[in-house]
Amino acid sequence: MKIPDDLVQILRKSRRIVALTGAGVSKESGIPTFREAQTGLWAKYDPMQLATPQAYRRNPALVWDWYRWRRKYISEVEPNPGHVALVEMERLIPEFYLITQNIDGLHRQAGNEKLIELHGNIFRNKCFEEGIPIDGVDNFRDFPPQCPECGGLIRPDVVWFGENLLAENLELALQVTQAAEVFLSIGTSSLVQPAASLPLLALERGAVIVQINPDDTILTPQVHFVLRGASGEILPQLVRITWNSV
Ligand code: OAD
Repeated sequence: MKIPDDLVQILRKSRRIVALTGAGVSKESGIPTFREAQTGLWAKYDPMQLATPQAYRRNPALVWDWYRWRRKYISEVEPNPGHVALVEMERLIPEFYLITQNIDGLHRQAGNEKLIELHGNIFRNKCFEEGIPIDGVDNFRDFPPQCPECGGLIRPDVVWFGENLLAENLELALQVTQAAEVFLSIGTSSLVQPAASLPLLALERGAVIVQINPDDTILTPQVHFVLRGASGEILPQLVRITWNSV
């Protein structure tokens, strides 16, 4: 894929760049996405039975078991060249922020620090009743543990359907998005709110919007640059051409 010269020029001049990632970024690490036909998790499993607070109350063992399975395969994979390129961007760009919808922790594992995990992190846990973080939980137990404080159920610290994002995460995401000169939407179908509205907010504020995705999304008609392909290939190429060229 040829990276357009005018995009390279814009990136070189920009100080404030924000990237929003979705499941597509982790696909080359071996983690399935959600909405792709055949291979997507939501093509095989019903999110209403597995990823809502009601589902957990109804059948905690089933939901815990599903998260235990996901934790297991996520714990066995590594960040891919797309993740590594985003770490490089944090190092190279004066005010770079990474907002991710992914709960797999791979961006942090790769080394990004200016990172907002909008939907939480599958390896963390919290009390279902009080929301307080609970450390030291054996994530591979076959039944949900109980909160040592209140006896309530412990749950994965992820955002389920129908739940609000952590206010401080959302506020920071909005703040950096509003200030962005360039906004990169990478590996996301742009269907889940409020993440999906971030590129539109950046657009409204005059940012240049770039999408990196092998397929079109609902956002495609609105973006300035479409880089079609896998993020594990395009991101390293983008970084090499933009910042390391001689
Ligand atoms: P989706 O499964 O909806 O979208 C994944 C996107 O990645 C699609 O647009 C694919 O075309 C694209 N894709 C596939 N392979 C790729 C590759 N190698 N490189 C780049 N892109 C690729 O996943 P999300 O948009 O992340 O919510 O879904 C958003 C949220 O919905 C998730 O965070 C999750 C889910 O329900 C929660 O867990 C709360």
